[in-house]
Amino acid sequence: MSNPDELLRIEGIRKTFPGVVALDGVDFDLRRGEVHVLLGENGAGKSTLIKMLSGAHTPDAGRIHVGGRQVRIQGAQDAERLGIATIYQEFNLVPDLTVAENIFLGRQPRRFGMIDRKRMEAEAETLLKRVGVRVSPRARVRELGIARLQMVEIAKALSLDARVLVMDEPTAVLTSEEVEKLFAIVRSLRADGVGIVFITHHLEEIAALGDRVTVIRDGRSVGQVPADTPEEELVRLMVGRSIEQQYPRERPEKGDVLLSVEGLTRDGVFHDVSFAVHAGEVVGVAGLVGAGRTEVVRAVFGADPYDDGTVRVSGSRLKRHDVNAAMAAGIGLVPEDRKGQGLVLDASVADNLGLVTLRSATRAGIVDRGAQHTAAERMAGRLGVRMAGLGQHVRTLSGGNQQKVVIGKWLLADSRVLILDEPTRGIDVGAKVEIYQLINELTAAGAAVLMISSDLPEVLGMSDRVLVMAQGRIAGELSADEATQDAVMALAVSTPTTEKEGPRGH
Ligand SMILES: Nc1ncnc2c1ncn2[C@@H]1O[C@H](COP(=O)(O)OP(=O)(O)OP(=O)(O)O)[C@@H](O)[C@H]1O
Ligand SMILES: [Mg+2]
Repeated sequence: MSNPDELLRIEGIRKTFPGVVALDGVDFDLRRGEVHVLLGENGAGKSTLIKMLSGAHTPDAGRIHVGGRQVRIQGAQDAERLGIATIYQEFNLVPDLTVAENIFLGRQPRRFGMIDRKRMEAEAETLLKRVGVRVSPRARVRELGIARLQMVEIAKALSLDARVLVMDEPTAVLTSEEVEKLFAIVRSLRADGVGIVFITHHLEEIAALGDRVTVIRDGRSVGQVPADTPEEELVRLMVGRSIEQQYPRERPEKGDVLLSVEGLTRDGVFHDVSFAVHAGEVVGVAGLVGAGRTEVVRAVFGADPYDDGTVRVSGSRLKRHDVNAAMAAGIGLVPEDRKGQGLVLDASVADNLGLVTLRSATRAGIVDRGAQHTAAERMAGRLGVRMAGLGQHVRTLSGGNQQKVVIGKWLLADSRVLILDEPTRGIDVGAKVEIYQLINELTAAGAAVLMISSDLPEVLGMSDRVLVMAQGRIAGELSADEATQDAVMALAVSTPTTEKEGPRGH
């Protein structure tokens, strides 16, 4: 009776957390040799659903069939035995172990009771070759970049002979080149008969890679469509309405220079970086990963030191390597690494949103909790943060909703100069538009915005000017009219030189 190509069938899965119905009756199935995309807004229940397959959560109700048999998946070992491997939104590797040790964690090949390192490393090497990544099995995981970490996770899945590979937003942190590489691997696994569950907020990836799409809204499956369904239709299914304009750009007349950076240099990292951002302006910063964009803005914000150059806000020079001075001057930074730098995970949504505003909400030395709460409530509502309430701990929010809290915190802080580093990574299409509208409001109120983004349509759609960085230098600047995908990419892969080239005299 059951389809021999059917790897997996999920029926009527429900899962409730305190105050939240995360899944309210989801159906899903996966066949051999297909990529089945799970699509839905932030907080729709995608990650929760796949955690039922990895054994991280058990359903309150509903059934899971694997290979035609009803199963209970109560832990990682059950999943492993059933041939299900999961690559989470947050990786699961142990930073201080080597690549080979991570791949074979808990099941290292042994010889005379001892771990057989040689064999383990040789087998790891073969697996790494199969995914096409050049990394030593003896390298420590801590030393790898995100793309390579992901390849190691895939190698690990291969070593488990997984028939089902689940990937939760694997492309969110990859460059377009890395995405292509990942797609090639996924396609070859599919050709080998592996079934892949793929979660993404990048709609263009769906037609490029997927076969079928299941759309989840508010914990329910609301439709299953082929992957070549037009994007507008996917959006409508996902958010329940259509989106007129993905990049609404409204700008006032530009005002005075608010942020000016001159000759900023950190030896070996970035060199002679100069630019200015005016009031009412959004300046985009494009470039390949490793071009030095994050490093520059962290130095501007005072989070990292620099060796040479100046940073000025409204003409006054900032002390270097001093975050408090930068914040006092009105600079805000939405960091790229939200888990590490943006949030206090075990504090509430309200407290996280209020982290920067605490000072301005203080009346006569007493924190005005009421005012803070109202402001937090309003911001959470605008950004559509899906939560049980403002008291929910940020740790239990969905990935995209955590990101909304980081952004909301800085939007509430009334920064005159707001620096955004990959602001919409992991954010669904509807919430992105809301963030762009908030950026419009900030510029209308006279703020200056500097936005790093690897999402080219976003940079082109929202920036008034685009700076392109390559190899630690500004490779060029393009006006909104000049900035096309090709023009930006040409600069991003160029080898820039600066006039003040040569040994720097001190
Ligand atoms: N451990 C938990 N405790 C309480 N609530 C939780 C927990 N895990 C998830 N939730 C809630 O369940 C809902 C679904 O979250 P889930 O992480 O599945 O969303 P998602 O579709 O993966 O979203 P995103 O696109 O943002 O990653 C959210 O409202 C979230 O806050
Ligand atoms: Mg998720």
